[in-house]
This record gives sequence, C-alpha cells and structure tokens, in this order.
Amino acid sequence: MAAAKTVYICQECGSTSPKWIGKCPYCGSWNTYHEEIIGDSKKASNSGAIRNVIQNRAVKISEIQTNDVDRIDTHNNEFNRVLGGGIVPGSVILIGGEPGIGKSTLSLQIALNIPQKTLYVSGEESASQIKLRANRLKSSTDNCLILCEVTVENIIPHIKENKPGLVIIDSIQTLRTENVESSPGTVTQIRECADLLIRHAKENNVPIILIGHINKDGNIAGPKILEHMVDTVLQFEGDSSHVYRVLRGIKNRFGTTSEVGIFEMLQNGLREVANPGELLLLHHDKDTSGVTISAAVEGLRPFLIEVQSLVSTAAYGVPQRSTTGFDTKRLNMLLAVLERRAGFKLNTKDVFLNIAGGIKVNDPAMDLAVLVAVLSSDLDIPVDTRTCFAGEVGLTGEIRPVNRVEQRITEAEKLGFNRIIVSQSHEKNVNIMKNNIQVILCNKIEEVFRVLFVKKR
Ligand code: TYD
Ligand code: MG
Repeated sequence: MAAAKTVYICQECGSTSPKWIGKCPYCGSWNTYHEEIIGDSKKASNSGAIRNVIQNRAVKISEIQTNDVDRIDTHNNEFNRVLGGGIVPGSVILIGGEPGIGKSTLSLQIALNIPQKTLYVSGEESASQIKLRANRLKSSTDNCLILCEVTVENIIPHIKENKPGLVIIDSIQTLRTENVESSPGTVTQIRECADLLIRHAKENNVPIILIGHINKDGNIAGPKILEHMVDTVLQFEGDSSHVYRVLRGIKNRFGTTSEVGIFEMLQNGLREVANPGELLLLHHDKDTSGVTISAAVEGLRPFLIEVQSLVSTAAYGVPQRSTTGFDTKRLNMLLAVLERRAGFKLNTKDVFLNIAGGIKVNDPAMDLAVLVAVLSSDLDIPVDTRTCFAGEVGLTGEIRPVNRVEQRITEAEKLGFNRIIVSQSHEKNVNIMKNNIQVILCNKIEEVFRVLFVKKR
C-alpha cells in the first residue's frame, strides 16, 4: 500500500501546497494552510486515458423529457418565497449564517411543519437539547426523526431505511467521512461529505438542507467549492441583538435570487413577516434630528425603513465611522460627496449610522435617506416625519433613478406619508399628480438641501 501523502490546504479557497506557507498566494488570506492527509484513492493511471466505448449518449435538447417538478411546500411562506415556490425534490440547499442567528431554529421549524417525514441530523446538539427547542416552538408532530450522528457512512443508511421527504444536516462542518483522514471541518472533509450527500440526494430524489457556519469575513466556512456543488445557497442574516432576520438567496438553480424572506425572532420561534410595510418605522418624536425614512425595496416588496444618524465632534483623534445594517464603505463615499459637493466638513466628526431593526437592506435607494439623516444630525434640524426618500446618490452629488419607483410611492402614500423625494429622471415615468402624496423631483443634493433645510421666507 502506498504511504498516505500529506499536503497543506488553504481552508479559505482550497488551494494546495506541498509545504506550509503563511500567506495564501491565491486568495491572500493569512495562516489558513492546514496539513491534511490525502489517500491514494484517485488512481492516476487511467485518469487521462480516452475510452473508445461510448457510455452515456448525448441527446438532442428537443428530445429531453421533463416532468414538471412538483415543488415541496414547506408550509413556511417566507422560506418558499426565497426558494422560488418550495423545495425542488432532490435539490441540496445550503443555509449559512452567523452563530446564534437562528439557522437551527429555522430548519427545525421547517422540519416540524412540513407534512412529509423529515430526518434532522445533528452533530452539534443532543437529542434532548433539540427536544427542548421543539417544545419552545410549540409544535407536536410525529413526522420528525432526530439523529445525533456525525459520520456520513452511518447517516446514509438511516436515510435509506426511513425514506424521509426531507433531510436536514446541522451542520456540514461537524460531519466526517471515513474516506479521508483529516479532522472534521477541514476542506477535504467538507468536500467529501458534501459530495457523498449530494450524490445520495440526486440518486434518490431526496432533498437535503445543509447548515453551514460562516467565517469571520461572512463567507461560508470551508472552500468556495461547496457553494458550487449545491443547488441553492441561502444566507440568514440580521443583528442578533435585534429581532428581525432576513433570508437571502445568493445562488438558486431553480429560481431567482432577488427575493428575500423576512422573519421576526420571538420567544416561540421565528414568525414570518408577510407584510413588512410599516414594520420598520419606529415612530420617533417629531423634533429629533438625524432621523429619516427610506422607501426601500427588498426582492419585490416595498417597505419603509427608518435610518438614524448621529454626527458629533470626534472626541479622540481619529474620527469614527460606525454603521449597523449599512456598508461602511458606502457611508464613507456619501460623506465624501457631502464634503466635496455640498461643502460640509465632516472630517473631524464622528458619524454613527443605524438602520432600524438591524437588518441589512441591499438597496441603493437607501443612499438619499442616509445622506439626509447625516445632514440633519449635523445641522441639528429635524426632517419632517411625513417625508420619505428613494434615490441613489452618485459621485457628483446627483440623485439617480431607482427601480420600482411607482411601487415605492404607492407604499409611502398608503402609509400616510405626504412627501417623497426622488430623482428628476423619473419625471417622465411617474405620475407626480398623486392625490395624497407630493412627489418632489430633485437633480442634485443641493436641491434636496434647499427643499428640506432652507426656510422659505
Ligand atoms: P439557533 O437556531 O441556535 O442559532 P444557530 O443555529 O444559527 O447558531 O438560535 C439561537 C438563538 O435564537 C438563541 O440565541 C435564542 C434564540 N431563540 C429565540 O429567541 N426563540 C426561540 O424560540 C428559539 C428556539 C431560539
Ligand atoms: Mg445551530
């Protein structure tokens, strides 16, 4: 028998090296090379040889038969929405997220609510811990089987025997296979385990949900290749000190990735937030400066969300920029625009920014509300609470158009706002003669400034 070979593998990107190196030349991360043992299972001898016998015939695309896939209804509308209407049989879904965000809670809730038989495999918690959680979720079902096991070779026979309609693996990083000798959580283990499970899912048409940890950069721990192997990648995000959680599609072979699911973490589990509308408005005091409302869109749904900012003189040397739910780089860019295009000197000020509910909204239309919140706090002049904003801000200080503007205006009108500020470019495609809401079109941030902060005499 050939001696087992050891290689060093980057735990971030999966590249290999025969000896240890401090910085990965491929992905640039430091101290990520770990020694792993690789077996001699892949025989090099015939790998490059071309066979003369055709094993699998190529077929014309017009001749391929499809049977309309019947998606499995998870009985959780927000989860169905992100997947594009339910789970496709035989698909493998990876859910990533920070520790404590609620990945196990969400998966268990789905396992308990779905009418099909489910197998929940946990490598992290004991059966009694899972039972305690199920009690909190106040669900009683006999359809959910719990298995505490980490070896893939032992898990697959259970799937074969019980024939569940859905398998949940919590988590992929705790699994190990006997095929490779490295420890659980390493690149080779994750890749091998995922490969075995995915093959089983495809061959037997049983869907699998894999729960994945994320690393300090917010990516799913382990090699990127894991994300390539699965059909769907979902990210569960939010601030664990707040109650709202967003489930976002990052990759979906069976649907769009533009939809998000919104949940609220309560005492007895995650509540689906079907109508986000007014949810993220905190109804602040009229005289508070630094607070604005953005008419945002996530996926296909519009909702209004509150932005809070605090600008104060930097107490200690280097000014701080701190954000919750908004990209700090984007804030820095907006502050630079304010300095250069509107003459505000913010380089000696601390700037803090919060998006209500701690959820991250990936909508460029948030820019204008953020910028106005900073201005309002800096000037200490409150913005009228019945005014909202939707606009992207460009580097020259221009207000740029946003998608679904009609939908945003209608939602703002429905919630009782009487003014909305949007880009001048919408002039042609929006009806500004609305009954109950005044649509103000602006080209530049100077104009917004004049509308809001310069008193008319
Ligand atoms: P968990 O699902 O264990 O997170 P993950 O698997 O992503 O690490 O969620 C843990 C948090 O959720 C925990 O801090 C408590 C909270 N929680 C509730 O608020 N209500 C509940 O009903 C449950 C089950 C958990
Ligand atoms: Mg967990």
